[in-house]
Amino acid sequence: MSEKNPLSIGVFGLGHVGLPTALGFSELGWNVIGVESDPKKAQLIKNEDVPFNEIGVAALLKKHSNSGKFSVTTDTKLAVKQADILFMCVGTPKRADGSADTSQLEQLARELHDSIASYKIVIQKSTAPVNTSRKIKDILVGGKNDGHDVKSNRKIVDVVVIPEFLREGRALEDFFNPKRIVVGLDNPELRPVIIDLYRPLLEKIKQGEDIFVFTDLSSAEIAKHTANAFLATKISFINMIADLCAKVEANVETVAKVIGMDPRIGTEFLRAGIGFGGECLPKDLSAFIQIGKNNGLDFSLLEAVEKVNNDRVNAYLSQVVRYLGELGGKTLAVWGLAFKPNTDDVRNSQSVAVIQRLVNQKVRLQVHDPYAVEEFKRRNQVSDLITFCESPIEAAHGAHAILILTDWPQYSEEDFSKLCKVMKTPIIFDGRNTLDPSVLHAAGFQYHGIGLGNNA
Ligand SMILES: NC(=O)c1ccc[n+]([C@@H]2O[C@H](COP(=O)([O-])OP(=O)(O)OC[C@H]3O[C@@H](n4cnc5c(N)ncnc54)[C@H](O)[C@@H]3O)[C@@H](O)[C@H]2O)c1
Repeated sequence: MSEKNPLSIGVFGLGHVGLPTALGFSELGWNVIGVESDPKKAQLIKNEDVPFNEIGVAALLKKHSNSGKFSVTTDTKLAVKQADILFMCVGTPKRADGSADTSQLEQLARELHDSIASYKIVIQKSTAPVNTSRKIKDILVGGKNDGHDVKSNRKIVDVVVIPEFLREGRALEDFFNPKRIVVGLDNPELRPVIIDLYRPLLEKIKQGEDIFVFTDLSSAEIAKHTANAFLATKISFINMIADLCAKVEANVETVAKVIGMDPRIGTEFLRAGIGFGGECLPKDLSAFIQIGKNNGLDFSLLEAVEKVNNDRVNAYLSQVVRYLGELGGKTLAVWGLAFKPNTDDVRNSQSVAVIQRLVNQKVRLQVHDPYAVEEFKRRNQVSDLITFCESPIEAAHGAHAILILTDWPQYSEEDFSKLCKVMKTPIIFDGRNTLDPSVLHAAGFQYHGIGLGNNA
């Protein structure tokens, strides 16, 4: 491939995946040029400002803007000229019918097609339906010709799928400590190139090449959707059990602990609560259901997973109404906007769904989130019924109850005896089972978790 040494990397789309990926490769010693089509976002990053909350990214951005190992542009042609390996990290949002909208990937492929003049490796990192990478390759070469330019018949591109498994809020931690690096390719000659790309990481974490799973393009694409569908299944499964526990006064936390002690099941993703949200799990689950349908398969197992999750907000609010009665005109404290802790991402946050429902019922809301308030304001029309508060205790002042909707760890460190005194009625509806009921009871609170039986 390139005679240049070291390799140069282009990362297209500097969002939650692209920016940490770009900076991760800069930290590994590669020269990285990041391309962001949104000029405002690109300018922010140029100014060493991170457009979202992600641990460690600001420090690496500063470090590698100064070291010269990372630069930003909106100019695709310039980046394609400079880089040997091009990472596609653009969004693949959900369409109205639930399928994945791959138009950003296709548009980027067209832009790359117009810019590529010499051989490049194009890596699809975005999560996309099986066979998307083949379509991307067709666009890149301007016709079906196995990576060769139709007119010149020169090999100009290879397409590789390296799906991203990072967790938002821990993107860099996951970049530097991957559990596996899945590489889908149809040209085996690329294996050593990909291994060399990650070699500095393997050396840094003293990891052998067995971390790689080399496979075909389709298996790599399916592996990513399967992983997210399985995680979603675990969450909906335990939430279904939580509904039973709530009915019969059993404790879902104990049940989850018992099954989690079996290594065949494991403890992760077995926390009952108001369900999963965010940009990835819901959309990837819906997309996978559509992929099943398109292939004439029965994916009703996953449809049930989606249904259980869609019912969570209803189930939670029914519990609130059961104890508080008619909610209209009452004041509730809302703790948490982000779809999970350590991020300011409110996309498809269950908290936002709860807030919308309560605003429609004319409930006054006093809202706290340590990071996500600005992002919430940017993405939502904010009702006059909502007051944003600087601290959890300020949000609780005069409230009929506290609703915990994001399990920020700092919420369990509050002084609940003090909180109890400032509220109209000291009641907590812990939608994430994040607090210790015994601490709350001792402080004088009425505590309601999800499926906790007599403990709640
Ligand atoms: N967010 C996650 O935690 C996560 C984890 C694993 C995989 N993924 C997948 O990674 C992909 C990206 O997700 P994200 O959360 O980073 O999305 P994002 O919306 O945060 O970022 C995408 C960025 O791409 C930019 N963009 C769009 N078209 C472009 C183009 N032609 N050239 C340059 N920039 C362009 C957008 O302006 C945006 O800034 C998606 O497929 C997602 O499913 C996301």
